[in-house]
Amino acid sequence: MFFVNKHDKNIDSIEQIRSEVLSCTLCNLSLTRIKAVPGEGTPQSKIMFIGEAPGFVEDNMGIPFVGTAGKILDKYLKIAGINRSEVFITNIVKCRPPKNRVPSVEEQKTCFDYLSRQINIINPKIICLLGRVSFEAILSGSSILQNRGKIIERNNKKYFVTIHPAAIIYNKKLSDIFEKDLIFLGTLIRNI
Ligand code: URA
Repeated sequence: MFFVNKHDKNIDSIEQIRSEVLSCTLCNLSLTRIKAVPGEGTPQSKIMFIGEAPGFVEDNMGIPFVGTAGKILDKYLKIAGINRSEVFITNIVKCRPPKNRVPSVEEQKTCFDYLSRQINIINPKIICLLGRVSFEAILSGSSILQNRGKIIERNNKKYFVTIHPAAIIYNKKLSDIFEKDLIFLGTLIRNI
């Protein structure tokens, strides 16, 4: 949705972005965060997972998806045979919104340059969008349930949309969908 990339891929790096995010003051989320959460994983990752925003535990630890939603993600990554150490995980916004509210479009836009640079450097084979906020911000998509579980090609990139793992906390029936999607994603990535 808001891709602008002023940075030269050859001189930019995941470490450089990390240090910029850690000291970022571009929006007011920097005033309430404990730790910024740039992302976790290596630049060689074939899959990138993009969630919404850090939550309480992530804010305390500076690592994405380590709270309840993270435990759910870990469970299904394991079932799908996807090794967490081989993927890159990040969020649309890198700081926790107060009380875990949805990040505003303004906050998403302000933070987007970091994500767009991460995508540019990693150049993953598949970008997995976790949940509505990520789907809307990156593909301007609306219905997750109509678009999930398949590859969507856009601007020479392959996206795979699925539900946000936190949705399973409130609706256990969604776990079947998440499991199916991640198993399919695991198969795709092993054959790419
Ligand atoms: N939810 C997200 O979207 N991201 C996290 O890092 C944790 C929970």
